[in-house]
Amino acid sequence: MRTLLIVSGGDSPGINAALYRFALLADQWGDQVIGAVGGVAGAVEGHLTDIRPELLAPFAGSGGTYLSTSREPTLNDPHNRMKLSEIISRQRVDNIVLFGGDGSLRHIPPILRDMGIDCIGIPTTIDNDVPGTDETIGFDSACNAAHRVIDGLLATGRALPGRIFSVETLGGSTGFLALEIAYTAGAHAVLVPEYEYDLDWLADRLSQAADQYKLALLVLSEGAAASRILVEDMQRQHNLRIRDTRLGHGQRGVSPSHRDRTLAFQMAEIAFAGLHDRVQVGTTLVQNGEIQLCEDLVTRFPSRQPDLLRYQQINGLV
Ligand code: F6P
Repeated sequence: MRTLLIVSGGDSPGINAALYRFALLADQWGDQVIGAVGGVAGAVEGHLTDIRPELLAPFAGSGGTYLSTSREPTLNDPHNRMKLSEIISRQRVDNIVLFGGDGSLRHIPPILRDMGIDCIGIPTTIDNDVPGTDETIGFDSACNAAHRVIDGLLATGRALPGRIFSVETLGGSTGFLALEIAYTAGAHAVLVPEYEYDLDWLADRLSQAADQYKLALLVLSEGAAASRILVEDMQRQHNLRIRDTRLGHGQRGVSPSHRDRTLAFQMAEIAFAGLHDRVQVGTTLVQNGEIQLCEDLVTRFPSRQPDLLRYQQINGLV
């Protein structure tokens, strides 16, 4: 078997572990693996590289991705689809493993299926927004990265009481990441793109928490409405002094947690076995705590929404 590995969209901690595990298995079974440099756009241009366990081993515990990625909708162009088909047959590629988040897994595998190219998708994104799976590779590590910073804020917060802290997470246009972090950090308020809020209510909630608990913590997703200006607005309109921290991309580039390494290894194993079983279309998913291969596209599942009840509970709305 000769497999082409492609990483698409934003990187996430654990991708390298999955690439390494796949390369190890291929080596044990006498299979061949190559990787696209620069995602689908790179594959289309024939930018390919050898994948061997000894090349991947030094990166297995690092964030980022050994195979660089890209975000362009390259395969929308029929000319690029033709170029990819030519490369697949010239390189004698039997199948593809695609690592990507919501956008990549919705967009690319259906096109590959229509082109008759076997592909298994592995959900990799810190945003945890891929339909059909409870968890994506990278989410746990990004939560841990946030907690390391928040623990420091809470420690200094307790040392000098009365202050309000705000922490902005990544997460794109979804709030799964911020909601999970807010919950496990014991935040007094959380903002996510999916649910509306009122600035006066927020200011009130934070100043009450600062009075009552001697420290208030707001966690907000970068995609929440007015995320870039709300701290300034609250300072100006409500005379609140808020110390804000933006986690930014440092949250994404961290080393994978044990949980993400486990997920990465197991998903790579399931994908490898699926391709050996000649599965033509598939996605590795976590459902009810079980990692499994679904012989279908993620598009068959409905979009997910952050848990409304949890959001309301954190915000004291229920
Ligand atoms: O891959 C998802 C994500 O990390 C989002 O959380 C974030 O908004 C986005 O990617 C950032 O993208 P870029 O790296 O292109 O700035």
